Amino acid sequence: MTVQAIAMRQTPPQAPSPPQGAGTAIDCRGVTVRFTTERGTVTALQDVDLQVAAGSFITLLGPSGCGKSTLLRVVADLIEPTAGSLTVLGDKPSVARERRDIGFVFQDAALLPWRTALQNVTLPLEVGGGASRPGNRDPRELLALVGLAGWEDAYPHELSGGMRQRVAIARALVSGPKLLMMDEPFGALDEITRDRLNEELLDVWAKTGVTILFVTHSIYEAAFLGQQVLLLAARPGRVRELVPVELPGERRLPVRETVEFVQLAGHLRRVLETC
Ligand SMILES: Nc1ncnc2c1ncn2[C@@H]1O[C@H](COP(=O)(O)OP(=O)(O)OP(=O)(O)O)[C@@H](O)[C@H]1O
Ligand SMILES: [Mg+2]
Repeated sequence: MTVQAIAMRQTPPQAPSPPQGAGTAIDCRGVTVRFTTERGTVTALQDVDLQVAAGSFITLLGPSGCGKSTLLRVVADLIEPTAGSLTVLGDKPSVARERRDIGFVFQDAALLPWRTALQNVTLPLEVGGGASRPGNRDPRELLALVGLAGWEDAYPHELSGGMRQRVAIARALVSGPKLLMMDEPFGALDEITRDRLNEELLDVWAKTGVTILFVTHSIYEAAFLGQQVLLLAARPGRVRELVPVELPGERRLPVRETVEFVQLAGHLRRVLETC
């Protein structure tokens, strides 16, 4: 199945035609990933076609094992596809990774405990000689952007789980990536903190213009954050549906109480039940 991810905030809704050239952040054609272990071969992804326009926010939903993390990892050049072709910002994923075009945020913030919040954010600039790259962002400004102004010198053990994830987001953005892969980044947080971070992430997205692929198990989070929700089915992992999100007014938390949101969440749930 071919699906199109069109950036709706930056450009008016368009008829689905394959985005081309500089406007395409991710272009997957027939991407298949198989893992072979002593227990046999697993097809984590099968024939995934996906075009993501630069600046989009795409959320990924699907049952455990349907290949969500694998898709993010293949885009980020952490694993290679077994078959198919994939370009990231017009180049091979390895080229995009070397240019530091791809940031990654995991469920666990994985901060270094002996470094302060600011020192954790600056870490990617210290490895691989990236300190003087023109695309780098100011670490202090990033901490302020994620709501942590004044916490620069705090150590991870002094921060809450939500604050640690904010640091992880700032760290992922410090090299000025054009793409941000987020794999269940708020999955371990309480609901109120998660809600707050959801709103804040939309602000970060608007201010940075970064293209985001965001994995979640929450239907509500997927519907609230995404311009489109990519539903994956399991065994083998494959695209089930790309659902456009059209909600009235501003994307703020109360939108979740609108009829449109409730209907969308109902649709996502019904499709998920068959994945
Ligand atoms: N490195 C690996 N070696 C072998 N099998 C793997 C590897 N990584 C993933 N798999 C398998 O590929 C399939 C997809 O895994 P993946 O982690 O992408 O799923 P997921 O959708 O992210 O699941 P979850 O929601 O539980 O995080 C699973 O069957 C998993 O066991
Ligand atoms: Mg996963």
